[in-house]
Amino acid sequence: MKHYLTITFAVLLALSLQANAYERVKTPATEIVLEADAGKPLRIHYYGPHLADADIESLVASGSLNCDAYPAYGMGKDNGCKALSVVHSDGSLATELRVAESYRESESNAEILKVKLVDTKYPFYVTVCYRAYKDVDMIETWTEFENREKKPVTLTRFDSGLLPVRRGDVHLSYFTGDWAAETYLHEMPLQGGVFCISNYDGVRNSHTSHSEVMLSLDGKAQENSGRVIGAALCYSGNYEIRVETPAGKNHRVFAGIAPDNSFYILEPKELFVTPVLAFTYSDEGLGGASRSFHRWARKYRLAHGDRERKILLNSWEGVYFDINEQGMDQMMGDIASMGGELFVMDDGWFGEKYPRLTDNCALGDWKVDRNKLPGGVSALVRMADRHGISFGIWIEPEMTNSVSELYEKHPDWIIKAPGRDPVMGRGGTQLVLDMSNPEVQDFVFKVVDDIMQENPDIDYIKWDANMNVRNHGSQYLPADRQSHLFIEFHRGFAKTCDRIRAKYPDLTIQACASGGGRANYGVLPWFDEFWVSDNTDALQRVYMQWGTSYFYPAIAMGSHISAAPNHQTGRVIPIKYRIDVAMSGRLGMEIQPKNMTAEEIALCRNAIAQYKQIRPVVQFGDIYRLISPYEGKNLASMMYCSEDKSQAVFYWWKLETFCSELLPRVRMAGLDPERMYTVHELNRIDRNPLPFEGKAFSGRYLMENGLEIPYSHKADGYNSDWSSRVLHLVAQ
Ligand code: DGJ
Repeated sequence: MKHYLTITFAVLLALSLQANAYERVKTPATEIVLEADAGKPLRIHYYGPHLADADIESLVASGSLNCDAYPAYGMGKDNGCKALSVVHSDGSLATELRVAESYRESESNAEILKVKLVDTKYPFYVTVCYRAYKDVDMIETWTEFENREKKPVTLTRFDSGLLPVRRGDVHLSYFTGDWAAETYLHEMPLQGGVFCISNYDGVRNSHTSHSEVMLSLDGKAQENSGRVIGAALCYSGNYEIRVETPAGKNHRVFAGIAPDNSFYILEPKELFVTPVLAFTYSDEGLGGASRSFHRWARKYRLAHGDRERKILLNSWEGVYFDINEQGMDQMMGDIASMGGELFVMDDGWFGEKYPRLTDNCALGDWKVDRNKLPGGVSALVRMADRHGISFGIWIEPEMTNSVSELYEKHPDWIIKAPGRDPVMGRGGTQLVLDMSNPEVQDFVFKVVDDIMQENPDIDYIKWDANMNVRNHGSQYLPADRQSHLFIEFHRGFAKTCDRIRAKYPDLTIQACASGGGRANYGVLPWFDEFWVSDNTDALQRVYMQWGTSYFYPAIAMGSHISAAPNHQTGRVIPIKYRIDVAMSGRLGMEIQPKNMTAEEIALCRNAIAQYKQIRPVVQFGDIYRLISPYEGKNLASMMYCSEDKSQAVFYWWKLETFCSELLPRVRMAGLDPERMYTVHELNRIDRNPLPFEGKAFSGRYLMENGLEIPYSHKADGYNSDWSSRVLHLVAQ
């Protein structure tokens, strides 16, 4: 129960004479142990598998993590990183936090521990919160600040939380990238100093580095063994994750909103709530941590995580801006005839005064271009219906162009540095709308609302965002609150998404942002999936999707079959390989079907039919990564197993070809050792079936020995540089 006391430090001193109060926050298999003694700092002693009650005192006595759970700047001997820095109302930079009280709140699937800390001199309150799920090994931490001083307090650093990790041979896995090369995996041993990954884009946040890290506690990261902690900051704006290795026995992982140019003035009585930092512990290696993140995502952090995704054709790489009714009809007919379930019309369908013929105009003018589409969007929705598929549409609602009716009417709605000319983005004219402005929030809501009011049967929205903040300034926020721009932008974005979801709970929405700019748990509560990258090259996708899978489940990863030569890399990869890679995520197509050969169409039709059979395993199953493309073994392999282990899908992609090469035989994982599995190859192109086709093997054999996969295909005219296999395993 929550006690509404005004707790002064004097009261705390009296309370501090009481015995140690250990607070245990438990998930099914893990727990975090805190010491929350009134009048003392809040300390973290332990994070790992469940402890016996009797072990807690022994653990503390014999050397625990014993780390300040939320270090604040300004008092005490610790000169390391801080989770919080504050300028108090009288100008003091010193903060000293002590436990005031702790209480628990119950939710249907979780329990929350809240520990309220108070400064020893000022009525400034910091509540550190931990939510532990009852059915998945995930803990979320976040922090709430309440200013009861008489004047504003300025927050200059305000992390979501801190996680200590015992030093030893700890390795860090993290992800960096760029447009068309998102989510590249890196791993390194943690040494002294502070390692920081961050993003200051302002609008999107996962192109250049991801707000997620994994820490392997037993040396070099292993996929299916060893202790691993995974942590993800769930925030769609600027962030910083600092992994500090100070003197002493702990690493400390700090994560939160990036404070650079974002100091926040907290008014008296105002409450500031940070984003959530979600973390998991596994003793089944990186894969175990991934599986917990995927489970948690599907249950709690991803829109419609329990709903199968439709197989779609997106128009972008097929026709780019060359949208017209006949072309859309042809593409819809083609995807329908291949067994697809949804067609998405991408960029280029709108603009009356300034038709969107290329990328330099019309964002914000969400009126159909009748020259291209005389029957409007409704004619297309009806067309899709006639083809027996659903219809989706592309928008980029947070953006405008200087060449647009919207900008002519509302030049004050854009993000722009005061007294300066706007800095333009894509097409030399793109501008970001100021989501801190409630009028802009209403407008963005209305973009979706109007489309849906007009065509309630629209099934899917691809929500794009192709520009970062390039000129700091809000024309809405007052001069003394310009530093709130980034935070208020994302608050405005969240409010708008909440409104959209309240009215359109069933709509499928993709988070796209110049490719993978919004692959982040900060947006996924409102979005069903994200576009992994604008790069659809199957080889590069193996690497990018591998990295993405550390934290995100296949159901959330848009993964499309595209043309050869690939539009981004120019690489020519046979259709079989392109299909086999795309089928490891949420399958779709990004191609002009009328340019495909009859053989390619037939293979895609077959692949779509087979994907429908394995879709529940891919989209709801547990991932087991087997051979990493980053290990330089010329091979990558992974699999999904259904939760009840009755089915599995195994993927094998050769990455390079050499004469007389020797590739490792891949041992499977995640199967039931006692059950027999019948093996069936999907997307087969070889003249003869594989030697093990239709044969049954025990799960134990497959996990101990694996299958001998031929390195090349025996198919007419096939370039075996690109060998790949997909196997469906069904328990007898
Ligand atoms: C960037 C996206 O990532 C692409 O998929 C496509 O939608 C274009 N924008 C359209 O302008």
